[in-house]
Parts: sequence; C-alpha cells; structure tokens
Amino acid sequence: MRSFLKDTDFSPSEAAEVFSLAYRLKKQRNAGILNVLRGGSWGLLFFKKSTRTRLSFEVGVHELGGHPVMMNANDLQISRGETVEDTAKIMGRFLHGIIIRTFKQEDVEDFAKYSGLPVINALTDLLHPCQTYTDMFTICEHFGKGSFDCDILKGKRIAFFGDTACNMAYSLSLSAAMFGAEVVLCGPGEFRPSKELDALFKSAKLKPTWSFTDDPSAAAKGSDVLYTDVWVSMGKEDEKEERLKRMAPYQVNEKLFKLAKKDSIFMHCLPAHAGEEVSPEVLGSPRSIVFDEAENRLHVQKAIMATLAEMNR
Ligand code: CP
Ligand code: NVA
Repeated sequence: MRSFLKDTDFSPSEAAEVFSLAYRLKKQRNAGILNVLRGGSWGLLFFKKSTRTRLSFEVGVHELGGHPVMMNANDLQISRGETVEDTAKIMGRFLHGIIIRTFKQEDVEDFAKYSGLPVINALTDLLHPCQTYTDMFTICEHFGKGSFDCDILKGKRIAFFGDTACNMAYSLSLSAAMFGAEVVLCGPGEFRPSKELDALFKSAKLKPTWSFTDDPSAAAKGSDVLYTDVWVSMGKEDEKEERLKRMAPYQVNEKLFKLAKKDSIFMHCLPAHAGEEVSPEVLGSPRSIVFDEAENRLHVQKAIMATLAEMNR
C-alpha cells in the first residue's frame, strides 16, 4: 500500500507526474474528468487547527467522486486514550484512505501501518509535504508563464527565513532537492535544522541542496523566491516570547526583497502574521503569490489522491 507521509515517498519522476496531473486538473476543474474515488470514503483526521488543508481536502475528495469524512480528533475516543493502533484498525474497516494532521511523524506512520489504507500527511511537527509539493508546482506555474515543466525548478534559489527547524523548512528542503532547486535556510542559530533533516535526506538517498546562514542579506541576494512561515508553529506556543524576539531580524520586508532577483516572488504557506515574519507591504505586493499558492493546494492534493488510488488499485 503506497502512502504519502514524506516528500520523498514519491520518486522525482512520480512527483513530476503528480504535478502534470494537477496542472490538467486545474485547467479542467469540475469537468468531471476524474472520478477515481467514486464509492470511497476518505477520512480527514485533524489533531491541529486548519483552514486551507481542511477545505482543500474536503472539496478535493468530493471533486474526485469520493465522500469526505471530517473528524476532529477531540470528538473521537482517541482523545480519551484509545490507542493509535486500535483507532487505525477501526478506520481500516470503514474508510478507503486517511488524511491526517497531527504532532508526531510516527503517528502518521502507525496509522498507515495499522489501517492498511493509503495515508496522506497533512502536516506533522516534522513535515508538511502537501504544502511543499504545492509550492514546487506553484513556482513552476508562475515562472512557466503559460506552459508547465518541472525543469524550470532546476537551479532556482529559494530563500526561507525564520524558524529553519520547522516542518515547512524541512519539507521545502526535501521537495526542492527532488527537483534540483537550491534552498537557503536563514534564521537564528538556535533554530537551525537538526540532524533529523540530514537523516531524512540520508534515508531517501537524496543529495542535499540546502544550506544554512544566519545572515538575511546573504540569503536574499540573487534569490528567485523569498519564503517564510510563522515564527510560532502549532504546539510551540510556550516558546512564543523567545521566538518573536530571536526571529525579529529575519522578517521578510522590502529591504530584503530588493536584494533578491528582479522577477523574484514572495511565498508563504499561510496563515501569515503580517508585521511579524513578513511586512504587510511584501505580503500584499503584486509579487506575493500567496493566494495562488493556497488555491493550488486543491489541485495538487487531488493529483496526489488520484495517484495513490491508481497505484493502490
Ligand atoms: N498552509 C496550511 O497548511 O494552512 P492551514 O493550517 O490553514 O491548513
Ligand atoms: N509551521 C506551521 C505551518 C502551518 C501551516 C505550523 O506547523 O504551525
């Protein structure tokens, strides 16, 4: 049973196929071309808050002909101590796939192991691969100007600012490396990537294309994409004060944007905190493509689900 728990769970050529399908699905939205989940029920299990992921998957399952079953973990017996193993086994008896947003990466792996279903990682503390596949797709779409080719990612320089040890930084590094793009992770040294990121590359036998710097100007210089994420990820609220103080020099603002390439763009997975990780001017500028990026979650995730359904037939 194939699942999508990490960016590298698809090979680069499979991922390129996913993107081509997403491009077709976007062009032909609602034309009824793909009914691959017909008759199936896909669970959406959320242990953390969500706007984009929840909406895009719920709509996406419906548009592929399936029935989405939305589950807030607080409403399930798992919140009263039922184990992951038993919950997964039960889901395996009713559903055809599960989309999970949770804390520990091990939990999505266990859901896949015990449910016997395809599982999609809709964000863990470690990774957010649906978002970063969408980001790669959106970069191709933007720079492709009307045509679509993953080769456009080769040699692109993506500078990521702020919390470089968060799920977005790790998934961005993995997804970009799969397509030959470079990622410069830039933030305070205390929040630099841990050995976990090296281990992810090693286990996937993928050559790292990321580097780390604490110098925002050096990171921005010559970049094609300036990217940031919240400074306080879900689950890190206790560290808020310290994080806001330490990450303040890494705000993406107009001064930083001027150092990037002339045709560079701003990206953010959202939700954004304007005035913290990004200035309101950059977030609202014509070079900010955050809403295209958010919309593309739908098209890319439909392509991921359709691909898994096809692979697991
Ligand atoms: N970017 C993202 O995953 O957004 P949500 O937290 O709203 O789902
Ligand atoms: N790093 C953020 C991403 C939100 C989409 C978090 O985990 O909260």
